[in-house]
Amino acid sequence: MTRRRLASLSLEHPATLRRRRYSLPFLLFTMKVVFPRHFSIFGYARSKMTDAELRDMVSKTLTCRIDKRENCSEKMEEFLKRCFYHSGQYDSEEDFKELGKKIKQHEGPRVSNHLFYLSIPPNIFLDVVKCASKSASSVSGWTRVIVEKPFGRDSESSAALTKGLKQYLTEDQIFRIDHYLGKELVENLSVLRFSNLVFEPLWSRQYIRNVQLIFSEDFGTEGRGGYFDSYGIIRDIMQNHLLQILALFAMETPISLEAEDIRNEKVKVLRSMKPLRLEDVVIGQYKSHTKGGITYPGYTEDKTVPKGSLTPTFAAAALFINNARWDGVPFLMKAGKALHTKQAEIRVQFRHVPGNLYKGSFGTDLDRATNELVIRVQPDEGIYLKINNKIPGLGMRLDRSNLNLHYAARYPKEIPDAYERLLLDAIEGERRLFIRSDELDAAWELFTPLLKELEQKRMAPELYPYGSRGPVGAHYLAAKYNVRWGDLGGSEH
Ligand code: BG6
Repeated sequence: MTRRRLASLSLEHPATLRRRRYSLPFLLFTMKVVFPRHFSIFGYARSKMTDAELRDMVSKTLTCRIDKRENCSEKMEEFLKRCFYHSGQYDSEEDFKELGKKIKQHEGPRVSNHLFYLSIPPNIFLDVVKCASKSASSVSGWTRVIVEKPFGRDSESSAALTKGLKQYLTEDQIFRIDHYLGKELVENLSVLRFSNLVFEPLWSRQYIRNVQLIFSEDFGTEGRGGYFDSYGIIRDIMQNHLLQILALFAMETPISLEAEDIRNEKVKVLRSMKPLRLEDVVIGQYKSHTKGGITYPGYTEDKTVPKGSLTPTFAAAALFINNARWDGVPFLMKAGKALHTKQAEIRVQFRHVPGNLYKGSFGTDLDRATNELVIRVQPDEGIYLKINNKIPGLGMRLDRSNLNLHYAARYPKEIPDAYERLLLDAIEGERRLFIRSDELDAAWELFTPLLKELEQKRMAPELYPYGSRGPVGAHYLAAKYNVRWGDLGGSEH
């Protein structure tokens, strides 16, 4: 099996499928040892659907990247022919037995591996895992299960889920997916740090003033309110996607690139986090806003959201790592829905140059004399370093310019979707980008007390207009740590 061949056909990732309201609760991949010559994909859910209907649904989101000698429509046709559907209940061993029989018919006598991909609500995880492992797991090869978040709502429910899963699966069969780890620029973080001498020596409290991890979406929960309302933005984005990026960003050099060595380092960072204090957190919720004659509904106007809900759709937090490398450096996280832009980025603001000779050459804004490294995870992937530079000409005037690595220009080939990479890793048994159970425990340990306090005190979120930059409280929080969110001046590209 080669990565290139498998990656040449891809399904859009499940978050996109969900947004488009296709319901494909989970897929089962069954592969013979040689892939892709022998493989089948089974959709399994309660709804009735024929194989043809499933193929039709899949074809709408299938993209094709092939080399010049191949024919795209043939390739897609070939792929679709291997997709099948089986309808059944999630807690019925009988239905899973039927699924198992169908799979067997496709496998014939060959050695075969099964990969289950569960994109289902957590309350049915255990039923499905129990039925699938008893009645549809592989008898001749491996069986692995990819689970999508939410992995519980807090430390207790997450521990119960892990305990439940381990009744039927061993830890090395469980692949907890966090699709942000599959994003190209997140994977590149370690390369940037550990293979460039110019960055690693600066990667500490000595030179870094603050780190910002920013996630924003320019649309609301729109139809996903049912799921979202019982989780909120802290559980949906911060406790997993942003915290995972933080761990990768801040970890010590791993002994090797082996999954366990990397995950050991990430766990160490997560366990070194200072408890999160309520006063270091700001929560918000979007309200209706009219712009250009269009009225965008507020969060609680969504029919799928309970009236009067206090669930945050925005949160900002200042986190600290209690270790020698990062003591005192604020890691500021910000995540929100229905904001003015869709973006995910990591911003590293460096300290001022001591005794800066050129202080007067910028005008009055002293901030401008610091460097900033920006890793734009999406959209329009890029990495740029803001430096101070002399404006050509007579006299001595400085401005901030970018040393810019713009992916579209440097790497014109399409970047694979995060799910493509992660599914392929799960097939290959590569665990580096999946969450180990102790990482998950540490992540919940950090956020559970805060979430409980917010809920017990029924903290009201600060309202912000749909399409705005979020609550002003986030700016006060940053200011408390002498930080300004985002750009410190100069061009952004
Ligand atoms: C998911 C969240 O994990 O990530 C969604 O549940 C969010 O609320 C999505 O929209 C964002 O993913 P991406 O890849 O589109 O940034």
